[in-house]
Amino acid sequence: MMPLKNARGRFCGVMGLTAVLATTVAVNAQQTSQTLREAFADDFLIGAALSTRLPGGHDKVSTSMIAAQFNQVTPENCMKFGQIHPQPDRYNFTPADQLVAFAEKNKMTVVGHVLVWHNQTPDWVFENAQGKNLTRDELIARMRKHMEAVLGRYKGRIKGWDVVNEAFNGNGTMRRTKWFEIIGADLLEVAFRNAHAVDPNIELYYNDYGMTGGGKRNATVKLIEEFKAKGIRIDGVGMQGHWGLGGPSIDAIEQSIITFAKTGVKVHITELDVDVLPGRKPNRGGDLTKEQYQKEVDPYRNGLPDDMQQRLAKRYAALFGLFLKHKDKIARVTFWGASDKYSWKNNYPIRGRVNHALLFDREAKPKPAFHAVMRLKSK
Ligand code: G3I
Repeated sequence: MMPLKNARGRFCGVMGLTAVLATTVAVNAQQTSQTLREAFADDFLIGAALSTRLPGGHDKVSTSMIAAQFNQVTPENCMKFGQIHPQPDRYNFTPADQLVAFAEKNKMTVVGHVLVWHNQTPDWVFENAQGKNLTRDELIARMRKHMEAVLGRYKGRIKGWDVVNEAFNGNGTMRRTKWFEIIGADLLEVAFRNAHAVDPNIELYYNDYGMTGGGKRNATVKLIEEFKAKGIRIDGVGMQGHWGLGGPSIDAIEQSIITFAKTGVKVHITELDVDVLPGRKPNRGGDLTKEQYQKEVDPYRNGLPDDMQQRLAKRYAALFGLFLKHKDKIARVTFWGASDKYSWKNNYPIRGRVNHALLFDREAKPKPAFHAVMRLKSK
């Protein structure tokens, strides 16, 4: 008998024959010519974060898959403060311009990410020429100037912006960032008022991770209620979906979707990925060799085995089942990366691993998880 190749071109032993045939039959039975953007067109926008070089066209296989599958894009890094505005009088608009042009060419909605965040923001933002902290008024003026330049540049071409990202701790208190230290407790109010003043037509979002936890959930609801009472614009809450195979529970996610929607804003499922790798763990007191340890924390370097593909598919089907149930509350679902090749999860929390967190593999081909999600729409 000729040796068989599996989907990734690796040879399988005779023992694996039955399993391979079964998988092939199952996957073929699910093949569909529809794309995500077609299947979910009446439900919510379906998007992906694009790594900085992608819209430049260096990887045509990936960019054509992205154009076919998604109708919304978010810049993964190129609109963050440090990248788009690296020095006081220097802006680097080229990658962001390319992303917006790519989106327009392919009829995709753009969401900007991000105006005020503590990460990827250079120290100079908070300092004067002598290296001393700015005053509150000076920092607010600098924030406004940044918004005028960045938000202002894409007026009419970007639908909405993550105005502030990750401003709360898990217990709902304000995170002690430089922005907070200098501006104070009304940081979010100042940021949203400024963004609205620069472009009154743009949608404004608050985006955070851990939004299924009570602390952040309550703090966000309180924020929205205060904004509504004061007449400050806020259109949506971004629930970052950096989730795992086992958690958070569908119930907890549902609770947050319902709670946020009750405040009158739209829910955006942002930064969706499902980590399949073990978490960071110590080398059991040094018992394992370096190779053994690497195998333990990075077990799927040669591909995700079928049982894990099925677990991933089941998790994604459960998540999208929930999103469809609440499609009246959800404006979009955005993956954090378009394919496993570009997922930040290959480098976090340990650098250089091979993760499999998305619906498309390293060759931009759909995985069983993609078919499981699409099956929800063919029922
Ligand atoms: O640009 C430099 C490059 O010059 C250098 O050669 C290279 C060497 O490591 O690093 C490059 O910077 C990297 C940058 O991404 C751009 O690729 C940084 O090391 C790396 O830390 C940075 O990671 C990004 C991370 O935010 C930073 O916090 C991830 O790509 C990005 O996916 C991630 O996205 C965040 C969201 O914005 C907010 N929510 C959490 C999410 C995950 O952390």
